[in-house]
Amino acid sequence: MKRIAFIFGTRPETIKMAPVIHEMMKRKIFTPLVIVTGQHREMLEQALSNFEIQPDYSLDVMTSNQTLSSLSAKILLELEPVIKNETIECVCVQGDTTSTFIGALVAYYHQLPVAHIEAGLRTGDKYKPFPEEVNRMMTGAIADVHFAPTQESKLNLISENHKENTVFVTGNTSIDALLWVLKNKSNTLETVLNNHDIDIENDKFILLTTHRRENFGLPMENSLNSVRELSEMYPDLKVIMPVHFNPNVREKVDSILKNHKRVILIEPLDYVNFCHLMNKAHLIITDSGGIQEEAPSLGKPLLVLREKTERPEGVASGTAILVGTDKELILRHAKNLLNNKDEYQKMSDIKNPYGDGNASVLINDQLERMYN
Ligand code: UD1
Ligand code: UDP
Repeated sequence: MKRIAFIFGTRPETIKMAPVIHEMMKRKIFTPLVIVTGQHREMLEQALSNFEIQPDYSLDVMTSNQTLSSLSAKILLELEPVIKNETIECVCVQGDTTSTFIGALVAYYHQLPVAHIEAGLRTGDKYKPFPEEVNRMMTGAIADVHFAPTQESKLNLISENHKENTVFVTGNTSIDALLWVLKNKSNTLETVLNNHDIDIENDKFILLTTHRRENFGLPMENSLNSVRELSEMYPDLKVIMPVHFNPNVREKVDSILKNHKRVILIEPLDYVNFCHLMNKAHLIITDSGGIQEEAPSLGKPLLVLREKTERPEGVASGTAILVGTDKELILRHAKNLLNNKDEYQKMSDIKNPYGDGNASVLINDQLERMYN
């Protein structure tokens, strides 16, 4: 059977590639060749294990507090012999990470076709998100086929002169993954949260995550302080924060939220437990990309800790509010949702604009038309 390669290396790419790989395995038209860069370590392992994916190649590039240059150089050098020795019809990459862009670059150096999943998201500001905006654009410049999640992302690609017959609107594979997990996998949250002061079925809580490079330092400090104040203002409200492994995040979270009453800091959760945790949350506050897609599927109002987002559909449809990292603004919007039932209900009733769970089917259909 012909082989299609999948190159990825972080948690969100794994989650969003998994449904495409599962669908390909089911169809038995192509054999997927799974190449993980190891840009992430524990978080990558968690996601691979949730989806029962065994990589064919597992590189091990991660170092503590890695720089963008050293990470890029390592991935480039270590992917070279793998790509050189395999017979591949096409290389799939997903999203906007360093693994995405360098994966596409190595494929291009070997004159292999590149398919970009989750193509065309843009803020128009090359430092927001950093370095993801430019990673995604450079991957788009290399790609032969673009799987855009929404009509808006398709239009971004067309306006950059990508040919219309190379762009396919599929919805986002994150919704495929989320629906699959909620249907097929049960959680172990009670065990995971066993040592913490929370009744996960009955307590009201905010779910918080933050990890963006452009928010390091003062912006992150402001966001964390606002959530700390919220938990002080509302005695019946708890906060759960799975803390990203990035040391720049850990340092700030420890200094502002550690040992604080009603704030529960935990290790990054595996995806299955995280989906169920989102589903039980009252409100989600995050600077994550993927969570902006998932929260509306679960009817959860979302405050986005960013000044600009490459996912404007959620903001336009009203499921998300872009609050940036200004402390007063975050507090104002959070209090409005916590105090005003009608506002809360209005936001949670809006339909998810990011897909219907069928993206990986459409992507496989197109890959078969092009490369079988
Ligand atoms: C990366 C992506 C970002 C994505 C995020 C998802 C780039 C430049 N950044 O950011 O787009 O939103 O992943 O989470 O591609 N670490 C561990 N264990 C892990 C993962 C990370 O210890 O499993 C620590 C290491 O010290 C590592 C650091 O976090 O050096 C940063 O990892 P890196 O992948 O460079 O950046 P992220 O902030 O995770
Ligand atoms: N996620 C997870 N465990 C966590 C936090 C997030 O599995 O503790 C999932 C989340 O549901 C989403 C993805 O990880 O699918 C988002 O990853 P992240 O926020 O790290 O990256 P981004 O999407 O911003 O690139």
